[in-house]
Amino acid sequence: MERVAVVGLGYVGSVTAASLAARGWNVVGIDRRAAVTEAMARGVAPIPEPGLEERLARAKSAGTLELTTDPAALATCTASLICVGTPVGADGQLVVDDLLAAIDTVAKHAPRDHVCIVRSTVPPGLYDRARRRLGRPDVGLALNPEFLREGSAVADLEDPELIVYATEDENAARFCERLYAEQRERLRRTDPPTAEILKLVNNAWHALKVAFANEVARVTLPIGVDPYAVMSLLCADQKLNTSAAYLRPGMPFGGACLVKDVASITTHAATHAVDAPLFGSILRSNDAHLRFLVDTVLAHRPKSVAIVGVGFKPGAADVRDSAPVRLVHALLDEGLHVTVADSAVLDARVPPLGLDALRAALGDPRAQAAPDVAHAVAGADVVVVGHPCAEDRAALVEAAPKVPILDTAGELSRKLSAEDRASLAPVVVLASRR
Ligand SMILES: NC(=O)c1ccc[n+]([C@@H]2O[C@H](COP(=O)([O-])OP(=O)(O)OC[C@H]3O[C@@H](n4cnc5c(N)ncnc54)[C@H](O)[C@@H]3O)[C@@H](O)[C@H]2O)c1
Repeated sequence: MERVAVVGLGYVGSVTAASLAARGWNVVGIDRRAAVTEAMARGVAPIPEPGLEERLARAKSAGTLELTTDPAALATCTASLICVGTPVGADGQLVVDDLLAAIDTVAKHAPRDHVCIVRSTVPPGLYDRARRRLGRPDVGLALNPEFLREGSAVADLEDPELIVYATEDENAARFCERLYAEQRERLRRTDPPTAEILKLVNNAWHALKVAFANEVARVTLPIGVDPYAVMSLLCADQKLNTSAAYLRPGMPFGGACLVKDVASITTHAATHAVDAPLFGSILRSNDAHLRFLVDTVLAHRPKSVAIVGVGFKPGAADVRDSAPVRLVHALLDEGLHVTVADSAVLDARVPPLGLDALRAALGDPRAQAAPDVAHAVAGADVVVVGHPCAEDRAALVEAAPKVPILDTAGELSRKLSAEDRASLAPVVVLASRR
């Protein structure tokens, strides 16, 4: 049976080592702190995690867990799982000194064709940095961020919702597939930069949820409303609220409700002298995204821009508080010539009708309303795809403009066939690279 080293036996490492050893893997746990290795060797959990001592006992009776402070033990291991701490420094950056020291240990002691898997949380760019530091082309490097929570670490590790690994080395990839063979359906491979940022994004998301729920409490308590009741009802809607809905990057949000109601809850907080910076920054974040899109268009130095699809979201002809319309205004303010096509808006059933409906939707006489996509894109230096209807997507493929196409909401990448996408070149996808 191959031997696996777990380097760093804190919350992540002690649980990883004990759990793997209890499941029959031959594990060598390595930590600088003799107190930790000695305690674990006696079957004593270094941290109070439910199930950990039971795993240690199973490992002890099976003889599958060896513990040492000596990094030279790596010499007998097929793979190492690096679980050392990466605390945050005074400058807000993760401190990777212990991690780089562990990489040095691997570089020094690991046998040929060893696989080094970094389980610690790392900053962007760490994979390349660690690979250079390792300086051993024969050692396969992988990232495998850990998502467990303290307090339920064993259960989270053994029954995870998702396991992610990333590597550019196929030997390392094969080892990760073996390591997680029992949880294969939860295992996803990605590229190293995605794995690096994913863990930080995950934790930012969790932190955002906590801060959001607390802000809800602060704005409900002054009016005598039970925040637990509000949040429990919010969570009861698993279609719109606790789901993947609204979590795909794209255009800024708009429409008849989101903008006005976010403004309203922010004003409610201010009325009651409640500090609610999260609510107060939502519209500012939305505006920052619009500015990002404007700057992306301007980077192509166009004189004339065509915008296809100005509804506030995919599939909508409603342009109230529509981000694509705000983009039209922002580009006009930059001195660009802007022409817009949107067959869904042209389809208006009540006056104004046809081109007058589109002109009314744009709300700025400087914007040109085109009768169709072909007219809009003719002469444009850049085509911006907002929220086009199916008819306009097909018309864009037909027109095949030979200028950069900015797919701001990923509508082309998601809804066109690969062949149709290929006929449009070049397409700059802002929301998704896939
Ligand atoms: N604690 C959590 O709940 C949790 C959850 C998911 C991910 N993470 C991440 O996992 C990593 C580890 O976190 P933790 O809470 O287990 O850390 P920890 O501080 O509890 O433990 C780190 C251990 O590594 C040892 N160590 C440091 N450098 C070493 C070296 N070069 N050789 C041998 N041993 C060394 C230390 O002595 C210590 O025992 C961090 O990057 C953390 O952000 C932590």
